[in-house]
Amino acid sequence: MAKKIILNKPSLQKARRRKPGRISYQCFNLDIPARVRDHLGGKFYYIHTYGCQANIRDEESMAGLLESAGMLRTSEVKAASVVILNTCAIRANAEDKLFGEVGSLKVLKRANKDMIIIISGCMVQQENALEKLEKSYPQVDIFFGTNSIHKTLELIDLHLDTRKRIVDVNSEDITIYEDVPVSRVEDFKAFVNISYGCDKFCTYCIVPYTRGKERSRKFQDIMNECEILVRSGYQEITLVGQNVNAYGLDLEDGERFSDLLEAVAKLGIPRLRFITSHPWNFDDDMIEVIAKYDNIMKAIHLPLQSGNNDILKIMGRRYSVESYLELVEKLRTKMPSIALTTDIIVGFPNESEAQFDETLKVVQQVGYSGAFTFIYSPRDGTPAARMQDDVTLEAKHLRFDRLKIVVDESVENYAATLVGQTKKVLVDGVSKKNDHKLSGYTEENKVVHFIGDETLVGTIVDVKITESRVYHLVGELING
Ligand code: 5AD
Ligand code: SF4
Repeated sequence: MAKKIILNKPSLQKARRRKPGRISYQCFNLDIPARVRDHLGGKFYYIHTYGCQANIRDEESMAGLLESAGMLRTSEVKAASVVILNTCAIRANAEDKLFGEVGSLKVLKRANKDMIIIISGCMVQQENALEKLEKSYPQVDIFFGTNSIHKTLELIDLHLDTRKRIVDVNSEDITIYEDVPVSRVEDFKAFVNISYGCDKFCTYCIVPYTRGKERSRKFQDIMNECEILVRSGYQEITLVGQNVNAYGLDLEDGERFSDLLEAVAKLGIPRLRFITSHPWNFDDDMIEVIAKYDNIMKAIHLPLQSGNNDILKIMGRRYSVESYLELVEKLRTKMPSIALTTDIIVGFPNESEAQFDETLKVVQQVGYSGAFTFIYSPRDGTPAARMQDDVTLEAKHLRFDRLKIVVDESVENYAATLVGQTKKVLVDGVSKKNDHKLSGYTEENKVVHFIGDETLVGTIVDVKITESRVYHLVGELING
């Protein structure tokens, strides 16, 4: 008898297809399987999420479902009856970390045979990665992909019933499920998905394959989720999509991202953010709305990726350095103090030293308040992974180090401008080492450390910035 049940298998080839007009919207019906409640009610679950905000929001849905069945969250993997590793596929190093963690679960499973180990998320959406995981880690009971989050309880039930390995990775389903239970990681700041997937197909990126077709949630469904958050006293909402500014282009009702942003701002949430904006379709209406509302934070993540036009073209980014800088100029003209952050990839196939130098120049010119920098990592199935590459790994590392120096300089210059100012800070948490040391985020999204009482966590306070340590600031509480 077969030892596994395959409900759906991934296919990068199918994931690449974009057929118009097949999105279906469904209201999720919570049906808690009796077997899951009987076996797992009152027991603990552990989730480790790798990667981006979309994965964090998926974790919150899985947690919501498990808690509906009576399970409790633990941060101690040893204590857990259900262990979920929610994976990321964006670069090889995210996958390598996962291999290490899943390997270490072998011993735990040996000691606790009833432990259910699940691998979910973007990594299993790739057939090669799934095959490797399936072969190398017999201790894993269930694999499910980004389209099966709502099936968490159903798949656990099937495993409990059959005691077989379950594989459910669907590369084609483009249903949007509303009303899946949610247990949020934080009770004062929240991520709200506005769209799923990506149709940009930048040539280095695996996301359009692992997260599928770009599809927007309905305007009213997003508003309902945000209204509940405002009513529950949340202080910050971050609207999440791979390309927030493509929001609504696939909807019939004509609503655009600028309309959505304005409508959510009007709900009166103290802080509103959004991530990620593509520099290509960042329109003037968006700039107007961001400038108009004080509760829309003046901090924008605007991935540059490269400062050379030929590389941008081969990356499939659809903008030039000139049009990127023009957008920066427009934003700064309207909002002089706006904080800009970015993502940059070094060592894209065949990137020359001169092309790389142009990236350094753009970083200096823009003056970012923060930047995520990456060495290009070939992803199976993407066009860039099939390109010949004449840049050695050593050269890529050297460029990465040189970029870091220029980025640090830019971040340092920006941070120095905040010293002496009094800033509104959303208090995020207490230092692990010192109960009286708090940390929080300014409107510009800079971390500040200051002395204060832990009851302030989740509130917005005034902090005078006294010192910059480049990647974080030090300050003094004003009204505490
Ligand atoms: N290699 C390196 N970095 C990548 N990113 C996406 N794909 C790759 C890759 N194959 C980076 C981009 C993107 C960020 C989320 O991750 O800079 O904006
Ligand atoms: Fe990846 Fe490009 Fe889509 Fe961003 S816009 S998720 S980099 S394909």
